[in-house]
This record gives sequence, structure tokens and C-alpha cells, in this order.
Amino acid sequence: MLNVKEVSKIYEGKMAYRALTDINLTIETGEFVGIMGPSGSGKTTLLNMIATIDEPTTGEILINEKNPHKLKKDALAKFRRQELGFVFQDFNLLHTLTVEENIVLPLTLDGTKVKVMKNKANEIAEKLGITHIMQKRTYEISGGQAQRVAIARAMIHTPKLLLADEPTGNLDSKSSKDVMEMLQTINQKERTTMMLVTHDPQAASYCNRVVFIRDGKFYSEIHRGDNRQAFFQKIIDTLSLLGGDGHDLSSIRL
Ligand SMILES: Nc1ncnc2c1ncn2[C@@H]1O[C@H](COP(=O)(O)OP(=O)(O)OP(=O)(O)O)[C@@H](O)[C@H]1O
Ligand SMILES: [Mg+2]
Repeated sequence: MLNVKEVSKIYEGKMAYRALTDINLTIETGEFVGIMGPSGSGKTTLLNMIATIDEPTTGEILINEKNPHKLKKDALAKFRRQELGFVFQDFNLLHTLTVEENIVLPLTLDGTKVKVMKNKANEIAEKLGITHIMQKRTYEISGGQAQRVAIARAMIHTPKLLLADEPTGNLDSKSSKDVMEMLQTINQKERTTMMLVTHDPQAASYCNRVVFIRDGKFYSEIHRGDNRQAFFQKIIDTLSLLGGDGHDLSSIRL
């Protein structure tokens, strides 16, 4: 489903900076993959290139055998809207709109009929347990609810690949757990392929596999198996071997 081949990224500027070196990563349909590594190791850089927000300097990224970076602007916008879903740390909701309007926003852009949009929005809101807040403005809801709204918006197009960058970064441990359980359910029920960038070992323990990067290079990967608690411990152990800036262990939630 996703093929990252020998991807490197150099940020040009006064001082050119090499953020990623020869990254190879294959994600199969339906997989739920975590990306971890110290602050500045290149996680967001990698995610942004897969999200087609940014381009690799060398190497190639294929999503379902297609290279989105080769598409023209309009086709790319459409590809991004229809094949990909995004969830970010700061939710990225529009504050002048209601929850419902935020959720249907991607459909509005496609010119979908209002009735169809409402039905879709209700269906997904029910799954995420946010039906009762549909008419609220985004400043009237909690962080955990806001993140569920963001997930609903990301899922409204039934994307093939959901990309999340620190989706639990601004949430308390209970809301984090709720959000991760929701992502896990979506991953299992809809078979949506997911890639999650996180510092949070508890959040990462919901993945099937975690890939670690350090200094822009692949470091190691571990697989979950049946026991999430054991996987959590393995993640902590790998992080401590990986070293880094201390940031990684500051966010452990037990
Ligand atoms: N637009 C840019 N121009 C120049 N350098 C950049 C740019 N974006 C990121 N970098 C650099 O590339 C490196 C990787 O950044 P990136 O944001 O991918 O790290 P990260 O692993 O997501 O870190 P964090 O965990 O803190 O979010 C960092 O050293 C960063 O300073
Ligand atoms: Mg980042």
C-alpha cells in the first residue's frame, strides 16, 4: 500500500540540512505502523512527504503503486483529499464552524449534496461517540472531543491511508487512550492503513509495528504480537537504547 524507497530529504536554505537519509519503509494494507525517534530525528519530515505536503530530495514514494508527487496540482489536491486522511496534534479544526460543519468540510470541497453529507457525518459521529456535540462550536468542546472530531473529518472520505502526527500530544492520558482505541477500531473494522508518529509509548503500543528512526536514519523495528503491555515495555526498552533528548520518556503515561 505504501512504499518508501531510498528516500532522503535535504532542506535547502542558508545552511542545507540533511533531515533523512536512505529511508526504506513498506506498509501493507491494513497495517497500523508507529514511527518513533528523538525530537528532530525526521519523523514529521517523513510523514509530510508521504502526506504529499513536501517532496523527497531523492528517492521515491508510492501510495498504491502511484507516485503522488508526479501528479499536477489539481490532481494532487484531489488525491490527497480522497486517498489520504490527516490527524494532527493541534486538531486543525476551523473555529467559526460547528463540529458537524468541520466533519463534512472535505465533502463540501467535492460538491457533495447536503443530505448525503449529513447522513455520512451522522454515521461516523455515531461510531466516534460525538453525536451529542455536532451542533457545538469547536471552542465549546474538550481536547479529547476535538481530536475525535478531527478523526471523524479525516475518515469522512474513507481514506485508504490515515496519517497522524502526535494525535495524542495535547491530550490527557484518559483521552489519549480513548483516541487510540478509536483509531485501533477504525483500523480493524475499516481496514484503514495507519501511520502514527508519536513520542508516547502508550499510544505506540496500539500499533502492530513500531519503526524507530534516529538522526534521519532507520534504527530498528519491533512487532507487537498479542500482548500490548509487553509491547509497551519493549517500546520503552528500545527508546532507552535509542537515547535522544529525554523528551521521549517525559511523556510516558501509565
Ligand atoms: N522546513 C525546514 N527547513 C529546514 N530544516 C527543517 C525544516 N523542517 C524540519 N527541519 C529540520 O529537520 C530535522 C527533522 O525535523 P522533523 O520535524 O522531521 O523532526 P521530528 O522527528 O518530527 O521532531 P519532533 O519529535 O520534535 O516533532 C530537524 O533537525 C529540523 O530542524
Ligand atoms: Mg515532529
